[in-house]
Amino acid sequence: MSQSEGNIESILHESRLFEPPAPSGAPWLIDSLDEYKKLYQRSIDDPKSFWGEIADGFHWFHKWKQVVSFEAPDAKWFVGGTTNLCYNCVDKHVRDGYGDEVALVWEGEPVGKDGPEVKRFTYAELQKEISKFANVLRGLEVHRGDVVTIYMGMIPELAIAILACARIGAAHSVIFGGFSAQAIADRVEDAKSKVIVTCDGAWRRGNVVPLKENVDHAIEILKQSKKKVAAVVVRQRCKNGIEWHEERDYWWHDLVHEVDDQCECVPLDSEEMAFLLYTSGSTGKPKGIKHTVGGYMVYTATSAKYVFNLVPGEGQLYWCTADIGWITGHSYIVYGIMPNRVPTFMYEGAPNHPEADRFWDIVERHKVTQFYTAPTAIRAFMKWGDEHVTKHDLSSLQVLGTVGEPINPEAWMWYHNVVGGGECPIVDTYWQTETGGHMITPLPGATPTKPGSCTLPFFGVDAAVVDQEGKEVPANHGGLLVVRKPWPGMLRGVYGDRQRFIDTYWSTVKIDGKPVYTAGDGARRDEHGYFWIMGRIDDVINVSGHRLGTMEVESALVAHEAVVEAAVVGMPHEIKGTGIAAFCTLATGYEASDDLRDKLRAHIGEQIGAIAKPDMIRFTDSLPKTRSGKIMRRLLRSIAAGEVEVNQDTSTLEDFSVVARLQATDES
Ligand code: WTA
Repeated sequence: MSQSEGNIESILHESRLFEPPAPSGAPWLIDSLDEYKKLYQRSIDDPKSFWGEIADGFHWFHKWKQVVSFEAPDAKWFVGGTTNLCYNCVDKHVRDGYGDEVALVWEGEPVGKDGPEVKRFTYAELQKEISKFANVLRGLEVHRGDVVTIYMGMIPELAIAILACARIGAAHSVIFGGFSAQAIADRVEDAKSKVIVTCDGAWRRGNVVPLKENVDHAIEILKQSKKKVAAVVVRQRCKNGIEWHEERDYWWHDLVHEVDDQCECVPLDSEEMAFLLYTSGSTGKPKGIKHTVGGYMVYTATSAKYVFNLVPGEGQLYWCTADIGWITGHSYIVYGIMPNRVPTFMYEGAPNHPEADRFWDIVERHKVTQFYTAPTAIRAFMKWGDEHVTKHDLSSLQVLGTVGEPINPEAWMWYHNVVGGGECPIVDTYWQTETGGHMITPLPGATPTKPGSCTLPFFGVDAAVVDQEGKEVPANHGGLLVVRKPWPGMLRGVYGDRQRFIDTYWSTVKIDGKPVYTAGDGARRDEHGYFWIMGRIDDVINVSGHRLGTMEVESALVAHEAVVEAAVVGMPHEIKGTGIAAFCTLATGYEASDDLRDKLRAHIGEQIGAIAKPDMIRFTDSLPKTRSGKIMRRLLRSIAAGEVEVNQDTSTLEDFSVVARLQATDES
């Protein structure tokens, strides 16, 4: 499908409104558009009382003095208050007499003859496990304010590890298990981390991801800068051999065996760092997005409550299929869900192991009530066939969610009809690592939905589509997506790089002389005020819902001796949404070949990780450039999409110069 067809498709569907259905389980917390509108208006007109009242529902060791103080770009929320994320996720429920309720349900990937392994933790059990690991971290001399790096599979110890950090006021930096040793080393170095928590291996589609081996390589790289790092390893018995380094490696099970299971939550200032999460930008190395304790907690838990209609005591089981290595997992597997006292479900492995119906089998067996996934997964399910879904009883589902990239209307309709049986509201949640939680999203019992639109802003979010001058554009005109007021979950900085924080988010648009938060996405609002995200406006591409900077991939390519110059652009991809196309010029002595393509793909895998491997690599004798020397990316995008024919001459290298000359002069 070409992009223009996609637009026609969305316009056709746009006239179609799906009214919120009656609840199939717990009553809707907000059950009419009017109620949403009233609350929204209040949240914008009087954020202090709006958020102040909500924050009162959380535990504070010391109540805040001021709800918000803001001088762009610096926001402080719940100023002067002290609290603890782990306390609000776990201890509060134990204190209130719910210690025996299930907090976390986990299922492993391998399916033995007795079925898959399932583990359940109550709040009281989690409290002990977290306390033990918190004591372990202290024993390894992790102090309040230090950053602990976590590189693990999707196992309960991952949730326990991050909550243990939160308990003692250490920040965590979770790195997705698909990243390479080099990527780990870069992040550990930037965060000045002294401890890495990992696993011997992780299951993925029946194969083992060698996590410990990657950590070993990362530590080797770090040794060059004389950095000392300890590794705590969870034994997963994946049967991959690992090397053991007595002086720095510790088994998780040995350490937790030796410590006390009591550890008090440390009262932390609202504005103390909660965690770093590294994300790709349009330039240079990934940046450490910094979130703080109080605002992030209140914002993620409140958005989770209303967007997923979380109601304790109603037998709900919430499942988000993301990896905790991404913000979606941080906010909507752990920190936003647990304060709501609804159990959160975690699955270790791939959606098609052992069969293509694994997810639906899980939904049926565990009676999942809220299901949250990404458009790329939905497109894969569509391709695998309806029968894998329809053979299961999915009647437990109450809300379906999607996140990560714009969802194409066909995938939306399929999700609605085949998974939701036409009766389940879909929440298409637009947000970012930087925003901490949902920004633009329907509320399931209140907002009529339109396939492909993330609809209306969440409480407190003053989102707008503006031009470069900060003026709102008319309905159905494209512009820049900005947020004009602070919200509790907003990022507080880029770790160690104030200038990058300002340049990236606060320099594009000013309103009344003051900078406003610029998301980096293009958007339009339709005549009903609904938002339609049109995609990134910077050099970031969204591959299967994962953000990648084109510069990162280009730098990795030119780091290979065969490549002199590289340009990376996005291209349409049936499943991933956007695939990666790389155009390279070669050093003398190298010839274009499939073998070289394979080598370059493997090289990218080592430098960044498998998710960054290009879907297409094309070799050319020169990259098309404007007169001012800029690479003509728009032309390359058209070539990658097959919209511009390139006549290959007899040589193996493609010559784009002719097409470049035919294009209307300079690209800006
Ligand atoms: C894109 C993921 C359209 C967008 C939570 C954003 C979306 C980037 C949606 C953030 C959506 C995320 N509709 N686009 N519902 N959700 N995006 O930081 O381009 O991994 O800027 O956060 O994903 O990606 P990130």
